Amino acid sequence: ESTLGAAAAQSGRYFGTAIASGRLGDSQYTTIANREFNMVTAENEMKMDATEPNPGQFNFSGGDRVYNWAVQNGKRVRGHTLAWHSQQPNWMRPMEGSSLRQAMINHINGVMGHYKGKIYAWDVVNEAFADGNSGGRRDSNLQRTGNDWIEVAFRTARAADPAAKLCYNDYNIDNWSWAKTQGVYNMVRDFKARGVPIDCVGLQSHFNSNSPYNSNYRTTIQSFAALGVDVQITELDIQGGSATTYANVVNDCLAVPRCTGITVWGVRDSDSWLGAGAAPLLFDSNGNKKPAYTAVLNAL
Ligand code: XIL
Repeated sequence: ESTLGAAAAQSGRYFGTAIASGRLGDSQYTTIANREFNMVTAENEMKMDATEPNPGQFNFSGGDRVYNWAVQNGKRVRGHTLAWHSQQPNWMRPMEGSSLRQAMINHINGVMGHYKGKIYAWDVVNEAFADGNSGGRRDSNLQRTGNDWIEVAFRTARAADPAAKLCYNDYNIDNWSWAKTQGVYNMVRDFKARGVPIDCVGLQSHFNSNSPYNSNYRTTIQSFAALGVDVQITELDIQGGSATTYANVVNDCLAVPRCTGITVWGVRDSDSWLGAGAAPLLFDSNGNKKPAYTAVLNAL
């Protein structure tokens, strides 16, 4: 196959990218994105601050721009993200207790209602676990509403759009030996045991020198999948852009039937949230295919 999306489709998987609505007027960007990818995540446009700038007043202008571009070009969409400690609207940040809990529920209902039946998978909860060795939850206003906030978010999400797969998404849960990975694993196991609706785990997979790719990544993917959830690689970028590491990531996903797709977090290096100097993506800042691109295509 000659594109990432078509190559991934040979095994029933997808290959996606993050799309920024502000770049949709850049024809080099849209040409590459349209040609290579068959799944789209809005880089910022479906987050809490973008979609509910005032309480109960929803704004889907940016989200719809990304959604419509994707669907008009034959791509599916991952929803990102409904409940997160970051990129909350200003009005939500100081909230606490039952009013914040209700605001979270209203937000999930409002956003998922707008996109009902149109989203492949939602990152219902993003980055709720702590870094470091605790294996526990991250402190946040949402966490302080009570430890059950994550399962409430998932139950709300299932009712709001029964057609969407519901994912828990996080970074630094790629390395099987890390406490954070085990913390998330234990939560998913508990959710499955108690019937809390969860369908997938998103491994962001932002790899850099502090959190490098480790060969136990395949064990992580296999272990989550064995709990009865799909695994998606949701925000892949690799600082320095090692072709070998990119190929390892693809091979690890392909080794696990329930690893259903890979999304890279941007198109060209110049589009990366890490800055072009990190060179973490598959196309250089001029839109040329990098060695990592060829490695991924050959591995798919
Ligand atoms: C990043 C975007 O790429 C940036 O444009 C924005 O300024 C901050 O958020 N984990 C996530 C993504 O789940 O939403 C983040 O995206 C990157 C880290």
